[in-house]
Amino acid sequence: MAGGFEAAEVKELRKIYRLKTSLKKVAEVRAIDGIDLKINKGEVVGLLGESGSGKTTLGKILVGIEKPTSGEVRLFGTSAEEFLKSNRKSVQMIFQNPDTSLNPKMKVGDTLREALEAGGRVGSKDEIKELLEMVELDPKYIDYYPSQLSGGQKQRVAIARALAVKPSIIIGDEIVSALDATVKVQILSLIQELQRELGFTMLFISHDLPITRAVSNKIAVMYLGKIVEILEPRDLIEDPLHPYTRHLLTSLPSIYLKGLSLDGKRLKLKELQTPPPAAGCKLQSICPFASEKCAHENPPAVKVGGDHVVFCHLYSKN
Ligand SMILES: Nc1ncnc2c1ncn2[C@@H]1O[C@H](COP(=O)(O)OP(=O)(O)O)[C@@H](O)[C@H]1O
Ligand code: SF4
Ligand SMILES: [Mg+2]
Repeated sequence: MAGGFEAAEVKELRKIYRLKTSLKKVAEVRAIDGIDLKINKGEVVGLLGESGSGKTTLGKILVGIEKPTSGEVRLFGTSAEEFLKSNRKSVQMIFQNPDTSLNPKMKVGDTLREALEAGGRVGSKDEIKELLEMVELDPKYIDYYPSQLSGGQKQRVAIARALAVKPSIIIGDEIVSALDATVKVQILSLIQELQRELGFTMLFISHDLPITRAVSNKIAVMYLGKIVEILEPRDLIEDPLHPYTRHLLTSLPSIYLKGLSLDGKRLKLKELQTPPPAAGCKLQSICPFASEKCAHENPPAVKVGGDHVVFCHLYSKN
């Protein structure tokens, strides 16, 4: 898409955590290890990958909770640092566990009033009721404490709190992962409805392939700090190319396929040997297609048609 449409963009982004393991030793964790990603305005981009791939870290960098080690982060065409200075509330993050993100000592109404005030609004009872209505909660919950609510209701309050400041971008970090199956479906359809109605841009972080596929316009697959493939949701099943994306399909229940075939597309990889390699492709020790090149050179971004990009030497012409 042409320039000027990006809500968020990262270039050559890195976040390296240094952990003291003993008096003299420091271990490096490359949580984000050189990624490029564009999120267009009004788009829902799914960030899919197993635990430890760096998804939460990317979310925290976009919202300004974490600082990158290097690389560029831009929000609406401006450096993220500059943008967040004057639009602090414009990027909101909703976390997996509302028990830790909501203040247990504050009633729902007070939590929402505080958020409305932070967004420059009055925080009146009518505004609070309007927010509750948006997330399909009865106004009676104004006087409830989080401990008196179910998991799904608490997550609705967390969503309402994020909406209170009229954000341009919402980062949803595993927002339905802790919920029961039926509640999961309800919260997902609520967030989809709100997104369509309000038009915010969303980064939908999840380790769950069917859910990510259902809600996203575009999906970035992450593995150990790298984006390995960017593709349309339907291509996850119709045209998955990267060995890791194909590996993720091995956990997809066949009930979900509804007539679609995964013949020859699944690829079971071994458990990764740690620590991950510092040079070349992160999958080199577990990938059946690994060549000499994979051990030394970072896999390039290979455009394979439309917006489908795969980061793998198998598809590179050089
Ligand atoms: N504050 C931190 N200090 C040290 N290591 C961290 C910190 N936050 C995340 N990490 C490490 O960075 C890697 C990526 O973590 P994270 O972004 O939480 O991944 P994901 O959300 O995909 O599970 C993991 O190895 C994790 O242990
Ligand atoms: S770059 Fe090489 S090791 Fe990495 S996924 Fe592709 S073929 Fe496998
Ligand atoms: Mg996470």
